[in-house]
Amino acid sequence: MAAKKAAKKTAKKKAAPKIKDPVFETVKIERDKGITFLIMNRPEKRNAMSPQLHMDMNDAIDYLSIDPATDVLVVTGAGKAFSAGQDIKLYFRGTADDPAARAKARRASNAWRWQKLSRFPKPTIAMVNGFCFGGAFTQVCACDFAIASNTATFGLSEVNWGIIPGGIVSWNVVQVMNYRNAVYYATTGEPFNGKRATEIGMVNKSVPAGKLKAEVMKLARLMQQKSPAAVRYTKEAIRSVRFMNEPEAADYLNAKSDALKHVDKEDSRGQGMSQFLDEKSYRPGLGHFERRNKG
Ligand code: ACO
Repeated sequence: MAAKKAAKKTAKKKAAPKIKDPVFETVKIERDKGITFLIMNRPEKRNAMSPQLHMDMNDAIDYLSIDPATDVLVVTGAGKAFSAGQDIKLYFRGTADDPAARAKARRASNAWRWQKLSRFPKPTIAMVNGFCFGGAFTQVCACDFAIASNTATFGLSEVNWGIIPGGIVSWNVVQVMNYRNAVYYATTGEPFNGKRATEIGMVNKSVPAGKLKAEVMKLARLMQQKSPAAVRYTKEAIRSVRFMNEPEAADYLNAKSDALKHVDKEDSRGQGMSQFLDEKSYRPGLGHFERRNKG
């Protein structure tokens, strides 16, 4: 019996196909049972964002956005930086005399850091492991969640070399911080750590550096247990209603609720209701239902 069980287990293990991800010059993909790490990978340049990194991130996010093996996406940086912002040499100086190259890099930069990441269909977590400057604030704000190391260093450092927080960084920071802090940190360029980032709403929480990955995994595993369709529609709803008035929001949310019933292949609502009302196996106020209908 025991041998049969072991054989079954081995067969199951063997059945899981090894995913062959594309290889990029400046970006790395790592996986851990449904959690996909998308890693900016220029550690020797503190993951400063070159035009190539923008192209690679665009391609990687396009690939992962339709990847059935990704339940949760974690965006982070290799080495001691999350990202030191735009590459001042390659992004700014390197395209200064080439308007077409600058336009191409800017389009790619805005596309992945905001449009693609903020609309990513699965939950996204920014794992801020170290330096996070200037343009890198956009991808932190675009993620659904952000968890930082206590000792990560954040800075709206643009003013320190004579530019404004452009792209959409200024717009991003007023979405997550109050006006006073946005003006303060943008005009002084004063760096702040992960603890301060939590106090001013830049990240959800910060933890000691050695616990960062475990904390991110805990949140990612929790999100894996929730209804994917409900989570997706919830994050889309929260993102969209920010820019609506009340009647628009009410109409939109009605339509969104109706649509969810049709797109949710797991019938989460039905499962949740029956596990609470009929089986009495859980309490929705205190936790999630058990997903027995995974698509
Ligand atoms: N652009 C281009 N190169 C960079 C950047 C950047 N944003 N950040 C770091 N690098 C490069 C350095 O030039 C250096 O290259 P080298 O080894 O060829 O000389 C390498 O990365 C390592 O950087 P150091 O400064 O030696 O590393 P250190 O750990 O001492 O400091 C820090 C890291 C604090 C991030 C520092 O490099 C820095 O201040 N970078 C600029 C940060 C910034 O202001 N970013 C905002 C850019 S503007 C925008 O995003 C819109």
